[in-house]
Amino acid sequence: MKDKLIIFDTTLRDGEQSPGASMTRDEKLRIARQLERMRVDVIEAGFAAASNGDFESVRAIAEAIKDSTVCSLARASEADIRRSGEAIAPAVRGRIHTFIATSPIHMEKKLRMTPDQVVEQAVKAIGWARQFTDDVEFSAEDAGRSELDFLVRIFEAVIKAGAKTINVPDTVGYNVPEQFATTLRSLIERVPNADKVVWSVHCHNDLGLAVANSLAAVRAGARQVECTINGLGERAGNASLEEIVMAVRTRADIFPVETGVDTTQIVPASKLVSQITGYPVQPNKAIVGANAFAHESGIHQDGVLKHRETYEIMRAEDVGWGANKLVLGKLSGRNAFRARLVELGIEIESEEHLNHAFARFKELADKKHEIFDEDLTALMRDEAVTPELEHYRLLASRFHSETGETPLAAITLSVGGREKRSEAEGSGPVDAAFKAIESIVASGSELLLYSVNAITTGTDAQGEVTVRLSKAGRVMDGQGADTDIIVASAKAYLNALNKLHAGAARLNPQVGP
Ligand code: KIV
Ligand code: ZN
Repeated sequence: MKDKLIIFDTTLRDGEQSPGASMTRDEKLRIARQLERMRVDVIEAGFAAASNGDFESVRAIAEAIKDSTVCSLARASEADIRRSGEAIAPAVRGRIHTFIATSPIHMEKKLRMTPDQVVEQAVKAIGWARQFTDDVEFSAEDAGRSELDFLVRIFEAVIKAGAKTINVPDTVGYNVPEQFATTLRSLIERVPNADKVVWSVHCHNDLGLAVANSLAAVRAGARQVECTINGLGERAGNASLEEIVMAVRTRADIFPVETGVDTTQIVPASKLVSQITGYPVQPNKAIVGANAFAHESGIHQDGVLKHRETYEIMRAEDVGWGANKLVLGKLSGRNAFRARLVELGIEIESEEHLNHAFARFKELADKKHEIFDEDLTALMRDEAVTPELEHYRLLASRFHSETGETPLAAITLSVGGREKRSEAEGSGPVDAAFKAIESIVASGSELLLYSVNAITTGTDAQGEVTVRLSKAGRVMDGQGADTDIIVASAKAYLNALNKLHAGAARLNPQVGP
């Protein structure tokens, strides 16, 4: 019998710390449901003390999720821990994950605490957390740059205080595999009662080594890996869940562990997270990139046709490729539409909402005959925009682009209910559209990112655009989808402006770690 490797997903917490990737409560719920479907062991649902919105999201996930443990992050303070305890209270299995920094640089420059004070605070934190749950995890933030003797000391103390999982984060992605494995091995050997707890790792990808470090730690005794879908996360991201899970499964000959993950749910989870956050997946990304199973060279194609395993170490269908099935078409009725939304975990608040969404679906089906799950997700995301989040609305647009001519865009918007129109030229039609919008809105925001992705395959696919705007220190992503990518771009720009306008943006830098 192999040991179980606990998969702790932090897409909704560390993943959300990617710039502009903030998600609404409902979006987080949908991702949490997909993680549960994928049989992830622990879902870190958020950082309950960061804001009321974060608290509500963690609580809603704790109420909805039955099969996975639901966890909230908390600094080692009584107030943070109380908030986390309240947020996870409805969970069938709830965990509090508390952390404090342990590296000399963090203790001295950031916390301004002595090592003795840090140990004392960590022990108190475990005591506070245990008032809410027995499932308490402790993280030594920046463990990757901490002194081994100090880690041994603080881990011994928190285990004595009742921590059940000890997490060793490489917070700044500084470690390399052999050295990180040695650290893990030494800790497990030296910390008293090490065998009474689960050893966990949490690696960042600043040197592109997050997965390699996590896997090296697993070989050294770690039995929980913290990771995210598509490797989303602070800065260069976290270890990606799909790579960890598939490495352990594909190289069962060298890893003494197995996960409980239903790997066929990996690609659907990747697509969902990408659509919701607006972070596209690079085509050559392992496991979930569009080219991950595509063979270009004739020699490879010939080999695969003769015997698949000549060039493939995994089967595309085992990670959920091919699940991109045609779901609905032009002739599909209202009931089929409603049933598919329910299967996708999309909530419909009222008959009026359903009617409106169904009318939009019919318009889309007229333009694009085959409707896939991803199209429905994009459509319903637009539908979820409530009037208070739609100060600016696109009423009409006209674009002119011709060889040798300067591209022109004419845009008509509703601004707080009043119709306004403007025209602008640009270096291309998208540039012209953004300039026309700005000449009406005069937001003064800075465009940080513009990216276009085809939602599905085929030339009639909807283009999904992500626009990242920054204004007065706030960064917000907007998304828009349409079969016309210039319209999709205008919608995405307005979506970001609306979020900035509604003040829904998170403060940047965040409260989080
Ligand atoms: O990177 C980090 O150290 C973290 C901890 C809070 C686990 O995200
Ligand atoms: Zn982290």
